Amino acid sequence: MSTIKEKILKEGYIAEKTDPNMDLFEAIEKLKKEKNAIILAHYYQEPDIQDIADYIGDSLGLAQKARSTQADMIVFAGVHFMAETAKILNPSKKVVLPDLFAGCSLSDSCPPDRFKAFKEQHPDHLVISYVNCSAAIKAQSDIICTSSNAVHIVESLPKDQPIIFAPDKNLGAYVNKVTGRNMLLWNGACMVHEIFSLEKITRLKFNHPGAKVIAHPECLESVLEIADYIGSTTQLLQFAKTDAADTFIVVTETGILHQMMKNSPEKTFIPGPPLNNCACNDCPHMKRNTLEKIYLCMKYELPEITMDETLRLAAKKPLDRMLELSAGIGG
Ligand code: 13P
Ligand code: SF4
Repeated sequence: MSTIKEKILKEGYIAEKTDPNMDLFEAIEKLKKEKNAIILAHYYQEPDIQDIADYIGDSLGLAQKARSTQADMIVFAGVHFMAETAKILNPSKKVVLPDLFAGCSLSDSCPPDRFKAFKEQHPDHLVISYVNCSAAIKAQSDIICTSSNAVHIVESLPKDQPIIFAPDKNLGAYVNKVTGRNMLLWNGACMVHEIFSLEKITRLKFNHPGAKVIAHPECLESVLEIADYIGSTTQLLQFAKTDAADTFIVVTETGILHQMMKNSPEKTFIPGPPLNNCACNDCPHMKRNTLEKIYLCMKYELPEITMDETLRLAAKKPLDRMLELSAGIGG
């Protein structure tokens, strides 16, 4: 019989049958109180998880909340790099992730050893890394940014400062365009945001003339070019809530539609269509988390995020720099 920890290493989560009659919402609320736990959820989580969360946000908001919480246990309903960020910023708290294998294709596209060699070829460059990267990449960076503050952070640096931007080439190209910089871009990308079909979005736009296309900056440049608004998940939500249009073509992961529909039930939200007839606009990593896995990870306080202290301190420095530079920017 293997132990729970061995099972987690093999399967990523606690594969245990729960009573099908159990009210998971009630059971999770009970555990929250018993354990003084807080559930932080990203907008790409399934609707039930968003509804049970204590805080829902984009990467910046989640990092800010993870740093300031007084809870004893942070239950991170998101992906691995987000839970890791919470641990880096708040090491005295227990941080649990419902599924350890909830990774990120963008983070995976930047292996630490290859990035180190790339950096060594450009010793005069400052490194700005998008938060969607591992702690080992953060530790090799000078400043972290998110999609909410990337433009602001780049603009806070002198115009003639050579910069490496990693790992997302699409966000990097977008920031280069907005700021007029020429940052050197690492060749990484997100599998979900690169799959949207320009042709199908253009057709949708034609069929819904009053609709606005709103897109995340991780999308390809050709898609961003036809967008009426570009922003982080929180910024897209805010735009959809306040803009006068009644129909929006939402070019990012589908999970965000839940809050958009809750905020503005009278408006129409059309998910951005992917190239194939698949559900590729659902992030397979984000969607590994389920209500049941949340319950089990709270019950057993596993899988837990742990980190070598030297690595944590090295990764914390560029994160602190980001948080200082983005004081006043909400996530
Ligand atoms: P946001 O910071 O905009 O929420 O983006 C996170 C993410 O993973 C986008 O794919
Ligand atoms: Fe990573 Fe893309 Fe999923 Fe965001 S949507 S977590 S960038 S794979």
